[in-house]
Amino acid sequence: MANLISVILLAGGSGMRLRGDVPKQFLLLKGKPVAAHSLELFEAHPDVSEIILVCDVAYHALFTTYSKVRFAPPGERRQDSVFNGLQVVSSDAHLVCVHDAARPHLSQPDLDAVIQEARIYGAAALATPARYTLRERDAQGNIRCTLDRSQIWEMHTPQCATPDLLKQGFALAQEKNQTVTDEVALIELTGHPVKLVLGSSLNFKITTSDDWKLSTALCQHTS
Ligand code: C5P
Repeated sequence: MANLISVILLAGGSGMRLRGDVPKQFLLLKGKPVAAHSLELFEAHPDVSEIILVCDVAYHALFTTYSKVRFAPPGERRQDSVFNGLQVVSSDAHLVCVHDAARPHLSQPDLDAVIQEARIYGAAALATPARYTLRERDAQGNIRCTLDRSQIWEMHTPQCATPDLLKQGFALAQEKNQTVTDEVALIELTGHPVKLVLGSSLNFKITTSDDWKLSTALCQHTS
């Protein structure tokens, strides 16, 4: 009972860019909803005690066969969905692990690595170093400057932290009326460092139709 992990699996977005009627996290990928792919990895993990699936009640029926799943309602912004999930997290959780349901290709070694670092440092997130030259543009669409790519990382999920750090981050965000894009930004508000954990670029978030093609090709490749 020493290391209970609660997962908040975010499936509350309404992005219908890939298909007009169903949000991307519920489209069928290799015969099951996109969200079920990472959910099954968490369900099988011995240290995960519960999975708070943040999604519209209309989709609950897709996930009732999983024994660790509990539900929370989505909020307007991503951070509101995380906040709603956090309200349902058990009081005995040692670590909260937030994951985008739209990232179905999370691997077991990457999950274990980010959990391990979060246990040591209190907060950790999967990320990959920037692969391309990055430039900032001005309002006219011209290049303003070139960024130092060696210091820039792309953030992925899971992003893991102790429940206390997340709560402190939310309190500060609310106080400052601040919108944040991920949990790392919440922890940053507290001043607590967040450990970057090298992940795989296969843990991409399905956003475009090209991502969808890549995802289905990956599933064929691994079947
Ligand atoms: O929209 P985006 O792809 O950045 O969302 C990342 C993840 O957060 C998705 O899995 C989406 O379902 C979830 N989300 C949510 N609640 C929101 C917005 C997004 O759970 N209000």
